[in-house]
Amino acid sequence: MVQSTPIDSKIVGEQIALSNLPDLGYASIREIVRLVNKIEQLTGEKFIRMEMGVPGLEPPEIGIEAEIAALHKGVASKYPNIEGVPELKRETMRFAKLFLNIDVNEEACIPCVGSMQGAMAAFMVANRSDRNKLGTLFIDPGFPVQKQQCRVLGHDFESFDVYDYRGEKLRPKLESYLSTGKISTLLYSNPNNPSWICFTEDELRTIGTLADKYDVIVIEDLAYFGMDFRKDYSQPGQEPYQPTVANYCSHWLLLISSSKAFSFAGERVGTLIISDKLFNRVYPDLKRYYTSDEFGYSMIYGALYALSSGVCHSAQYGLAAMMKAANDGQFNFVEMVKEYGRRAHELKKIFIENGFNIVYDTDIDQPVADGFYFTLSYPGLTGSALLEHLLYYGVSAISLIITGSTRIEGLRACVSQIHPTLYPVLESRLRQFHKDFSI
Ligand SMILES: Cc1ncc(COP(=O)(O)O)c(C=O)c1O
Repeated sequence: MVQSTPIDSKIVGEQIALSNLPDLGYASIREIVRLVNKIEQLTGEKFIRMEMGVPGLEPPEIGIEAEIAALHKGVASKYPNIEGVPELKRETMRFAKLFLNIDVNEEACIPCVGSMQGAMAAFMVANRSDRNKLGTLFIDPGFPVQKQQCRVLGHDFESFDVYDYRGEKLRPKLESYLSTGKISTLLYSNPNNPSWICFTEDELRTIGTLADKYDVIVIEDLAYFGMDFRKDYSQPGQEPYQPTVANYCSHWLLLISSSKAFSFAGERVGTLIISDKLFNRVYPDLKRYYTSDEFGYSMIYGALYALSSGVCHSAQYGLAAMMKAANDGQFNFVEMVKEYGRRAHELKKIFIENGFNIVYDTDIDQPVADGFYFTLSYPGLTGSALLEHLLYYGVSAISLIITGSTRIEGLRACVSQIHPTLYPVLESRLRQFHKDFSI
């Protein structure tokens, strides 16, 4: 270890040892958060915190005001219906039409406690729809907690890193898993957390066509809705629309998070949108767990009832108001979060100037977009080693290993908390890092 680092190396070393994390490359996001909090507390130094995907922007006033109004009307004392308040169901249905160009029924637009709970409920129903199937195929890299959800449910899963299987290579790779007949659900995020790659319409068509062929339910995680800023998805009812697999298959379930697109993570509210075919489909094997064999009924009165019996009443009104304003063309939610793209652009530049590389660097034939996350490597260091060394320089991230990436040299960096005023601090820390670690 070099002699003098921006953060007291004795304290960093001690805290890493005390953290009981044998290899930081395998630590979860929250474990890294805890470790960095402790180091910050002991040293009094602020880190460049890029480990956790929390919104770095203020929540929209529209949402806050609507929540307050709902609370003043007394909703806090009332249990919300599990299927959701009519205002949110209606606005979600409109949102689907206006921003995805898909038709759905209001009854199949169901609030959830963040899309985290939406995914849990989706696994609880979709992975139990056929007793002969085993579980989920994750198109990785991905959001690690969803695999944790499968683990705690006792569901099997498989995964592969999509980086080497883009474009025409996707079909044979996917088919090799789906043709076993053992896959119940297929899950990916688009734009992708952590790599920020975005599937093309052709790739979504491939996913959809194969899902239909092998009777697989697609769970499309749209946590970063509209945030591929290379295209303008912000205008309701106008092309281009946020790409979705819903255009290409029958049995799909979309997870719409309010956390990033609406900067509403603290309210833990999102929505599930289920295709009409899937909502109404009868799966006799569901009767093993639920009173009904219908997918939609089991979702609402089986899974979501058991999980939380509905979603925070006032938060539903907050999200409904923001969606309504977006649907009515009065609130450009995409414009608000474009700041993340600008930050990514500048931050990537700073890392690259100091010897770093972007790991997932291309989207088939073009550079990957600037968005909420980007991926990093440094010559000669594994992701674990890089993560650990960077802590001494006051920069925190997570390893790509925990995202299912096969690129062991990489880290995921989240741009959200890095306000432009912090760029000079990052620059100076990375300059020293580069000097100390140049080969
Ligand atoms: C891909 C992905 N899915 C789901 C979530 C969770 O979203 P929510 O806050 O709506 O539960 C996240 C949050 O970081 C995410 O990155």
